[in-house]
Amino acid sequence: MNRLNAISEEIEQLDLATSGQSLARLKRDEMVALNSTLLHELYFASLGGDGRVLPDGLASAIAKDFGSVDRWRQEFVGIANGLAGGSGWVLLTYVPRDGRLVNQIASDHAQSIAGGVPILALDMYEHAYHLEFGANATAYIAAFMRNIDWSAVKLRYEDAIKVAPPRPLEQKEFGDVPSISVEEVREMLTSGSPVQIIDTRPKHYTTKAQDIMEGAVWRDPERLDDWIGTLSRTEPVVTFCVYGFHIGCQTASALRKAGFDARYMAGGHYAWKAIKGPVKLFE
Ligand SMILES: [Fe+2]
Repeated sequence: MNRLNAISEEIEQLDLATSGQSLARLKRDEMVALNSTLLHELYFASLGGDGRVLPDGLASAIAKDFGSVDRWRQEFVGIANGLAGGSGWVLLTYVPRDGRLVNQIASDHAQSIAGGVPILALDMYEHAYHLEFGANATAYIAAFMRNIDWSAVKLRYEDAIKVAPPRPLEQKEFGDVPSISVEEVREMLTSGSPVQIIDTRPKHYTTKAQDIMEGAVWRDPERLDDWIGTLSRTEPVVTFCVYGFHIGCQTASALRKAGFDARYMAGGHYAWKAIKGPVKLFE
């Protein structure tokens, strides 16, 4: 806390117009000091029980996300053993984005999962155990596990699951443009049903792109007027861009206004690659 307060004071006294590098260094130090206090608070709040029986609701949540409570325990202890002789935290963290629990390492008192809510913390910095356990980290870890206050962890879990997941990106301007999934596009290609697939990744992007979806042609989205005349009016059109958020939607929208049956491929080029859809060299 003293260190954190000293850092905050230093930051307040900086001339922000000229202090770029000092500011960046102090903000890094501030994060380490702040997170260190937060994790130490959680560490002490994790202790004081008998470590034995997990309350029902928490046991079933852990079993759901790790396979079983034993499997969770093995992983948690395994991570701790892996940090023995080094440093870092082992955390059991709830991730609202995914609605699940994960075990994680937090090095340098930081690197917590963005938006994650840690509910159990094990300090694996040597200062936590060398006075009582010397180099015997295994005994320290076992003692920690025997003293977990599971009823307190359960209450923190109940608080954590109330945290709403981050809101997804919404693009109201494209709300009425229909999309098609990469799986559906693959099905169209496999079944041979007629479709015109247009890769509309921006021109500046194509200079570093190495591959293109098999069956697609690249067209410059900035020059729609030049190529719109080459499209068949009777076959459906599928457009896509890098991640399927913006340019692909825009092009599909413009084509629909021109009377084409156009949809954008949700997730774009990378969604196609994620399902291992065939690609070819992009020339
Ligand atoms: Fe510590």
